[in-house]
Amino acid sequence: MNRNLPNMVEISKTVHRTPAVAVADADERPAMRLGALRRTPAGAAAGLLGLAVLALTACASPSQLSNGRAIFLTGRDGSGVPISASPRPLFAYCAACHRTDGSGGVHFPGGVVSADLRHRALVTDQRHPYTLALLERAISTGIDNDGEPLDPVMPRWHMPPNDLHDVAAYVLTQLAP
Ligand code: HEC
Repeated sequence: MNRNLPNMVEISKTVHRTPAVAVADADERPAMRLGALRRTPAGAAAGLLGLAVLALTACASPSQLSNGRAIFLTGRDGSGVPISASPRPLFAYCAACHRTDGSGGVHFPGGVVSADLRHRALVTDQRHPYTLALLERAISTGIDNDGEPLDPVMPRWHMPPNDLHDVAAYVLTQLAP
């Protein structure tokens, strides 16, 4: 939580000045970077290497991402086993509250609104950006990226470690922008 909007102005000012930030910015658009590299054979090899690095940083194979997607959209993993939470959640799967595209914005009794889970909201616009480990913690224990407890409408999910990893990786890498 805790979007840090005033500081965003600061960040956008520094983007143009600091080379370190400019590099980070380029890293966020790997397609563009790799496209430029592919113009020469050596560049093509470097591009492939870049893809491998990207796959590693995403920390999830296609089958893991499809398992994560199944959990997010249906509340059942790739083998059909349902995820659960106690107390019993208002809805049994993530997309019911966060929408299929992760944009959130669903209002619940008591005034709480489901969070936007897309990359910009969870990573780019955060003072403490979510990582895979922080997402796993939020999903399973309800502690957010700032160490604060989330509203109890967000269920504390029980699922095996591989399912927790896969749904967190899906949220972190597949819900764009
Ligand atoms: C019953 C509705 C509901 C379901 C189902 C649900 N969530 Fe949430 N979730 C919420 C609400 C509401 C919040 C915002 C809580 C707050 O503001 O304190 C939230 C917050 C979050 C956050 C914290 C985001 C932030 O900005 O810190 C993450 C991550 C998250 N949900 C992931 C998931 C995932 C993954 C699933 C499925 C495994 C899921 N949620 C299922 C209602 C739900």
